[in-house]
Amino acid sequence: MRTAPRRLSWRSSRRLSCLGVNPLEALGLPRLQEGLQSLEPLLTASVVTGDAFLDDVTTHLIAAGGKRLRPLLALAAATGGHRDATQEDLLGGVAVELVHLASLYHDDVLDEATIRRNVESVNSRFGNLVAIVAGDYLLARSAAIAASLGTEIAALLADTLGKLCQGQVSEVRSAFQTTRSREDYTTAIAGKTAALTSTSCRIGALTGGLPSPEVEACTEYGRCFGVVFQIRDDILDITATDGELLKPAGQDLAEGIYTLPALVALAHPESGPDLHALLGKPLGQPERDKARAIVASSPGIAVAVAEARTFVTRAQDATAGISVPDLRDGLARLVAELLSDLPD
Ligand code: FPP
Ligand code: MG
Repeated sequence: MRTAPRRLSWRSSRRLSCLGVNPLEALGLPRLQEGLQSLEPLLTASVVTGDAFLDDVTTHLIAAGGKRLRPLLALAAATGGHRDATQEDLLGGVAVELVHLASLYHDDVLDEATIRRNVESVNSRFGNLVAIVAGDYLLARSAAIAASLGTEIAALLADTLGKLCQGQVSEVRSAFQTTRSREDYTTAIAGKTAALTSTSCRIGALTGGLPSPEVEACTEYGRCFGVVFQIRDDILDITATDGELLKPAGQDLAEGIYTLPALVALAHPESGPDLHALLGKPLGQPERDKARAIVASSPGIAVAVAEARTFVTRAQDATAGISVPDLRDGLARLVAELLSDLPD
C-alpha cells in the first residue's frame, strides 16, 4: 500500500476543526490511546480490497490522519477507560469512522473542495465519479461491519445515515438564502453532525454493555456534543486563519452556507444591510474577506458562542446519568474544551 498522501499548503501542526483541542488529553481516560492504536489497522484493513487503485482511493483520507473523534467517543463510552477495548468495541468505532469518512468524500464533491485534512481531497485527486463511488464503498463496508455487531446497531447506523442525508439536503436547499431561519440551521446541524456523534456514543455504550439509562445518557451527550462541535466549526470559519483551518477561511460564506454567526449578523440593524448587499451569490476573495469582517465584528460570534454554551451545559447535564466517574468527568471536560479557545 502507498505511503501517506502528500501534504499540501496550509501546513500546520494543528488539525482541522479541532485546532488547539486535543480530545484524548481532554478525556483523560487511561487505556484510550491503546484502543485508538488498535483501531487504526482495523480501520485500514476494513477498506482494503486488493485492487491497488481502489485501495489508494479508499485509504486516502485514512492515511491523511485525523483525530478519530467519533471512534474516540465510541471507545470512551464502551470502556470508560477502565478496560481494554474488545473487538466489538473496536468494530463499532470503525463503523462510525467509515460513515464519517464517506460523508467527507461526498461533501467534498458537493463543495468542489480541493483540500481535506491538509492533503488533496479525493474528488480533486481522483475525480468526482470515483470519489462518490468510493464513498459508497466505505458506506457498504460500514454497513457490513454494523451487521456483524447485530441488528440493533445495524438499524441505528442506517437510521443515522438517513439523518445525515436529511441534514445535508436541508443545508443545500438553503444555500445562498439570506432569509434562512435559525431553525433551519439547527435542523441541518442536528442531522449532518450531531446524529453521528450521538450514534458514536450510543454504539459504544451498547458494545460496552452499559445499562439502558446510561445508554440514553451517552446518546444525549453525543447529540449535544455534535451541536457544540458544529457551531464551533462555523465560528472558526469566520474567526480563524487559513493556516489554522488548513483550508480557506470564510468558505461557508463564499459557498452560500449561512451559519449561525452570519444569520445573526444578517438580522442585526448595524451589520445587516452591508452583509445583505454582499451575500446571496458566490463570493470572490475580496468580497469574502469583507463579509467575514462584517460578521466578525457583529454580535454573531457572541450569540453563536452563547448558543454553543447552552449545549455544553446540556451535554454536561446528560453526563450526570453516567455512573463511571472518570467517564462522566472526561466527557464533561471534553465538551467544555471545544469552547476553550473561542472568544467570550
Ligand atoms: C462536513 O461538514 C460534512 C458533514 C458533517 C456531513 C456531510 C453529509 C453528506 C454529504 C450527506 C451524505 C452522507 C453520507 C454518509 C454519504 P462541513 O461541510 O460543515 O465542514 P467542512 O468545512 O469540513 O466541509
Ligand atoms: Mg463541507
